[in-house]
Amino acid sequence: MARTFIHGGTVVSATGSQPLDVLVEGETIVAVLQPGSAALGADLAASADRVLDATGRYVIPGGVDGHTHMQMPFGGTRASDTFETGTRAAAWGGTTTIVDFVVQKPGERVQDTLAAWHAKAAGQCAIDYGFHQIIGQVDDESLKGMSELVAEGVTSFKLFMAYPGVFYSTDGQILRAMQSAAELGALLMMHAENGIAIDVLVEQALARGQTAPYFHGTTRPWQLEEEATHRAIMLAELTGVPLYVVHVSARQALARIAAARDAGRNVFGETCPQYLYLSLEDQLGAAGFEGAKWVCSTPLRSKAEGHQDELWRYLRTGDVTTVGTDHCPFCMKDQKELGLGDFSKIPNGIGGVEHRMDLMFQGVRSGRISLERWVEVCCTAPARMFGMYPRKGVISPGADADIVIYDPDGHTSIGLGKTHHMNMDYSAYEGFEIDGHVDTVLSRGRVVVDGGGYLGRAGHGRFVKRDLSQNLI
Ligand code: URP
Ligand code: ZN
Ligand code: ZN
Ligand code: ZN
Repeated sequence: MARTFIHGGTVVSATGSQPLDVLVEGETIVAVLQPGSAALGADLAASADRVLDATGRYVIPGGVDGHTHMQMPFGGTRASDTFETGTRAAAWGGTTTIVDFVVQKPGERVQDTLAAWHAKAAGQCAIDYGFHQIIGQVDDESLKGMSELVAEGVTSFKLFMAYPGVFYSTDGQILRAMQSAAELGALLMMHAENGIAIDVLVEQALARGQTAPYFHGTTRPWQLEEEATHRAIMLAELTGVPLYVVHVSARQALARIAAARDAGRNVFGETCPQYLYLSLEDQLGAAGFEGAKWVCSTPLRSKAEGHQDELWRYLRTGDVTTVGTDHCPFCMKDQKELGLGDFSKIPNGIGGVEHRMDLMFQGVRSGRISLERWVEVCCTAPARMFGMYPRKGVISPGADADIVIYDPDGHTSIGLGKTHHMNMDYSAYEGFEIDGHVDTVLSRGRVVVDGGGYLGRAGHGRFVKRDLSQNLI
């Protein structure tokens, strides 16, 4: 079995940082050693097939992005990253596991949709991947199918309070799905926006001639996120199901989540880098049709309303449990352009799977979160939340050798034009100057990125069969 020895770096975990060496055998971490053991270190270096010098750099668990939509059919088109291009871009950015969403549309069996997603991903992925299941039609058959999915390693289910006529579930359907998930011990994920009320606001805005991308934001106000979040929390409380609210952007919604957690409920919040850095005014409000680049739901929020500082604060308090990207890229050409003259036809989604680790590291640089919290929200907590810990999300003996060597003194420019590897014709973070750099990435012991070169291959990534040990933190 090939041995890799990583020495000289500072191993960062969710609970602390210290100078440690890491020994990998095959696909697995077999030892984490004090660097003081010089003789042993020299022996290991001599006997290793590969020695990686991490001096002056952080050695962290590979990122776990619990929220992606590779090649998702949505908004009359499909997300522009395939499992191949999207997982390659993830690897470039220091993410070594994604959990992607299988989509059930009305009329389909959840078991069939899972089989279809397996077929799309198999042999294509550069890094490991798991699946959540979107239930687009809550009925007896889907509810029965949930237990089969859990047995196959799909232990979390997403419902939508938004998108009437597409993925939307009524409160009654939500209650039934929550009851089923609670019985199974599975996690219920919620897109919490009041889609019925949003549709009225959208119709009224369009009737007033407000057709620009900016109005995507104004027709999805924070009140409708807070209301839906609160409703989801109450329904979850009735059923006892653990609730994970995805892509939270409104501070008021997070206040509801924090209050539920204070009351001892198993309620968890996820936010995304776009809500921490981008805004209604600066991005969605860009001139002409430019704002379409940032149409996603929940929407980018108004700076004037003070959401971003609160999101960062909740990241520190722990009421935001994880940071996922909600990676759902669409090109401007032929995709976002579907909504020229009508913002409601712009496919919803932002791509960012490649930038999450870097963007969140900026929070460390600015003193908003600690180094350890960076690792926790990007790597460890999603692994625990989604039943992959301690195989993923931690550097310790027995874990998969998913490891990133991160250079805090490096620099990454998310330049104008295509400086990224995602299959998008723009970047949502164009012009961002990043302090820090992903130098080396190992996925299950294999070096997939090293010193600016890509060494991965489609098909290396394997399906992660998750279990019900999700750690409710
Ligand atoms: O705009 C978004 N978020 N697109 C992806 C689908 C979803 O709701 O997560
Ligand atoms: Zn959603
Ligand atoms: Zn999503
Ligand atoms: Zn570097």
